Amino acid sequence: MIDFKALFKISYGLYIVSSGDKNHGNGFIANTVFQVTSKPPKFAVCCNKNNYTAEIIKNTRAFSVSILQQEATPEIYGTFGYKSGRDVNKMEGLNLKYGETGVPIVLNDTISYFECKVVETVDLGTHLMFIGELIQSEVIDDTKEPLTYDYFRKVKKGAAPKNAPTYIDKSNLEEQTESKNRYQHQCTICKYIYNDAVEPIPFSELPDNWVCPTCGAAKSEFIKI
Ligand SMILES: Cc1cc2nc3c(=O)[nH]c(=O)nc-3n(C[C@H](O)[C@H](O)[C@H](O)COP(=O)(O)O)c2cc1C
Repeated sequence: MIDFKALFKISYGLYIVSSGDKNHGNGFIANTVFQVTSKPPKFAVCCNKNNYTAEIIKNTRAFSVSILQQEATPEIYGTFGYKSGRDVNKMEGLNLKYGETGVPIVLNDTISYFECKVVETVDLGTHLMFIGELIQSEVIDDTKEPLTYDYFRKVKKGAAPKNAPTYIDKSNLEEQTESKNRYQHQCTICKYIYNDAVEPIPFSELPDNWVCPTCGAAKSEFIKI
């Protein structure tokens, strides 16, 4: 049997993977960044074929990885993890620098970053795995902890959207009881669930300017489920 909850025990970090150039940059949140060799240092990242960034990395043949700090703002992972660069300019107004290959590097909520040129692309069906060789890297803020997927789930109450390799259909998890469902409201943008049964304040009593803790969407974007 497969117990999908067992997979939640895998440790990951959360990163912004960016590509493109000064005029046309984009990025997405990825948990699937990992070092695969040391001599030379190479890194893998799995990118859904539907992600706009996949097209950009294929053309640019390079990417940057910004390692997010633990208390990264919902605006950062809301924009990069739940919206597509096809619909919004994610880089607008951000603190950016540009790498040796010209790719943008997001510095907001970033504790360190690295830049890679793509040396291999592996087709995994739904995702492309880009293998990149390290070109440069830098520590930005040594005082903060990196954001882990576990912290994102447990403390930030974040969920993976469909394009993430770790997405799990809720029907595969233990069913929640009907009575609990009566008190739940779901964000239509990122699917975050506000559960009245476990929160100190019922959803209806939250102020109008309350925003989704995961993606920053307005209270009005929630529906009762
Ligand atoms: C916690 C989290 C982890 C994610 N991990 C990945 C990942 O490893 N690979 C991937 O392709 N998408 C991942 N996603 C989904 C993309 O970030 C998301 O689909 C994004 O909107 C794509 O943006 P783009 O179309 O501008 O490239 C993740 C999202 C979240 C919130």
